[in-house]
Parts: sequence; C-alpha cells; structure tokens
Amino acid sequence: MPDSLTTTSQHISQPSTMASTKEPEPSVTGPVPLPFKDADVDDDAVQDPQLKEYKRRASELPSNPTRLRTRLRCYQGTWVLEQWVPGIMAIQRGFAPRQGDVIVASPPKCGTTWLKALTFATMARGVYPPTHAAHPLLRLNPHDCVPFMENLFAAGLGSKMDALPSPRVMATHMHHSVLPASIRANPECKIVYICRDPKDMLVSMWHFARRLRPDVRLLDDMFEPACDGSGLSGPIWNHVLGYWNASKASPETVLFLRYEEMLRDPVGNVKKLAHFVRQPFSPAEEEAGVVTDIVGLCSFEKLKNLEVNMPSSDVREGNFPKDSYFRRGVTRDWANHMTPEMAARLDAVMEEKLRGSGLSFSSLLRDRRP
Ligand code: A3P
Repeated sequence: MPDSLTTTSQHISQPSTMASTKEPEPSVTGPVPLPFKDADVDDDAVQDPQLKEYKRRASELPSNPTRLRTRLRCYQGTWVLEQWVPGIMAIQRGFAPRQGDVIVASPPKCGTTWLKALTFATMARGVYPPTHAAHPLLRLNPHDCVPFMENLFAAGLGSKMDALPSPRVMATHMHHSVLPASIRANPECKIVYICRDPKDMLVSMWHFARRLRPDVRLLDDMFEPACDGSGLSGPIWNHVLGYWNASKASPETVLFLRYEEMLRDPVGNVKKLAHFVRQPFSPAEEEAGVVTDIVGLCSFEKLKNLEVNMPSSDVREGNFPKDSYFRRGVTRDWANHMTPEMAARLDAVMEEKLRGSGLSFSSLLRDRRP
C-alpha cells in the first residue's frame, strides 16, 4: 500500500491497497455494511409484547393519508410513517449509543442517500479505499450500508446493531426533538445533518411517490400538507430548525450541511465531514486524490449507473426500488413543476417560520452556517 493512503486517524489503521494490486481481505472494523438487510424481519422480535404495544399506541395517534404506500401518524408533534412509529418508540426506550457513533440525519428526499454514501466511504476508507475494486458501495445501495434506525427497531432488529463494530454509521429521519437524550445530549455521538430547499424536497418527494403510486398525479395533493406542516417528516421547518439550533449550540456534535452547497463544493464539504467525524484527511491523502476519489465514487452518475441501483434490482415487497433514490440530482428542479404562486407561498411559509434563526432558504448563497 502506498504510504500516501495511511491516515492520521486513530480509526484508520488497516493496511489497504490500490485497486490495481492484489486486494487484501478487509478486516472487521467499522463502519461495515449491514450483515443483514434492513427489510428482513426478526419474527421472534416482532412478537415482542413491547413492540406490539408500541404498534397499538401508534394506531391510536392522529393520522394523515399519504401519497406513499402508507399513512402518517403524528408522534410528539412530528409526522412520521406509521410503520416507523414503533421503531421510534423503541429507540427512545433503549438505544445505547457508543463512542464514535455517527448518525446521518435528514428529512426525506434531501440527499440522504448521497450523504450516507459519502459518510460511509469517508469513514471506511482505511479498510476500503475509494478505488478498492471490492468497495461495498459498488455492490450495495447506500441504504444497505447505512441503516435507518427507525426501520431496524420497528422490525425488531435493533439489537443487531450491537453486533456492528465501531465506529458505526446509522441514519434517521427523526426530528431532533424526538431523538432520545442518549443521542441528543451525548457529545460522543455525532450527527451529520443534511437539508435542502423545501421546494426541491417536495418535488423530489412527489416523483418518489409517483414511482410507488402511479395514480398520484398532482403535486397539489402534497403541496398543502407541506405548507401546513402535516406532510412526511413535517413540520419541515421544525425538522430543519431543530438541527440548525443544535448545530449552533454544539458545532462539534452536529454538522449542518445543505444539499445545494454539497453540489457546489463536494470536495470542501467532504473534507469538513471527515474533520467532523475525527477522521481528517492527511496531506498525503489529499495529495493522492483520496477526497476526489470519494466524491467520484459517491457521485450521482457513478451510483445511479451501478448494477445494484438499476430499476430491476431488489424489488422485494416492502422495498423501495433502488433506482428511485437517483432521479435528477440537481437544484431548482422545482421550477419545472411548481407554479410561481406555489413557490412564493412555500417560500413565504418557510421565511416566516425561520425568521430570527439566521437560516434561510431564499438566500442560499448568502447564508452563513454556524
Ligand atoms: P431529485 O429527486 O431532486 O433528483 P434522499 O436520498 O434523501 O431520498 O434524496 C433523494 C434526492 O437526492 C433525489 O433528488 C436524488 O436524485 C438525489 N441524489 C441521490 N443520490 C445523489 C448523489 N449521489 N448526488 C447528488 N444527488 C443525489
């Protein structure tokens, strides 16, 4: 292995090699892809009386129809996929973070898949350099490398996370206010957050919904819930504000990223990410092009065109088609689908809700993050 690929990080101690030479068998250090699919269900665990009780409680919460396959429930002031509510309750009851854990947090359709890939590739680079011919991201969708905690716990698989080596990377769509104190008030557990112009988020969600439900024709159907706060992961302003305020209060624990800025400067943002998770790139790594290799491996074009992310792959019941996570990957696509009136209305709602916070979606390039 070239010396240039060794890093200063305490986590990155595994020898590795460039793709052109013989690949060593990677040893077990985190993060690793899940040794199980998060759609698999532990039948014993779902019989768990506690999980059954959570399901019963979820079924009594206020509900909203959605344009996805399921309905939403309002849990602790946030609108959540019904089947994830028991998972959230289980996380609140018993998730035990470990030193070095990293949580990728986001509202849906804001670049979660991309951030999962970048975080995984950055943190696993000691074992899997981004040019490694057997890199997990070449054969697994990013969602199979970094699990959604709500999904795992709802399927009774939460305890399987205990088996993962540290440092672990996991994800959530939960609002900051809903995270258990074991995460929220834990400086050893880092959160990387990504958000996006809510207009693009909504348009992305609409396309996603139409993949699952071809009868969903009108964006208008999803527009009102977005504006009144009852859409998926809503109120979206509270989602964003929770992490924004937390990042201002504790910048070393919450990194606040924006999709638009990631597109504008992926290399700078990946360096920031690596530094935040305490795995900064060494000058030798930078010299060797490791950062640009990670950006390239996780790029929209690269991931979208992999066999594993093609439309036909993994179409098991309950799974979202893998290709549905890769649509256009650009900013301002909202202009192709929303009327100027709709755009102005959603902008006005966000402006009003974010007023005084220092955060704005109307002036993306002028904003300063904490
Ligand atoms: P569009 O629908 O606007 O194209 P999420 O991962 O949170 O579900 O977000 C999905 C959005 O992120 C989609 O946006 C998708 O195309 C975009 N996306 C997925 N992978 C990406 C990547 N590697 N780079 C940039 N954007 C990506």
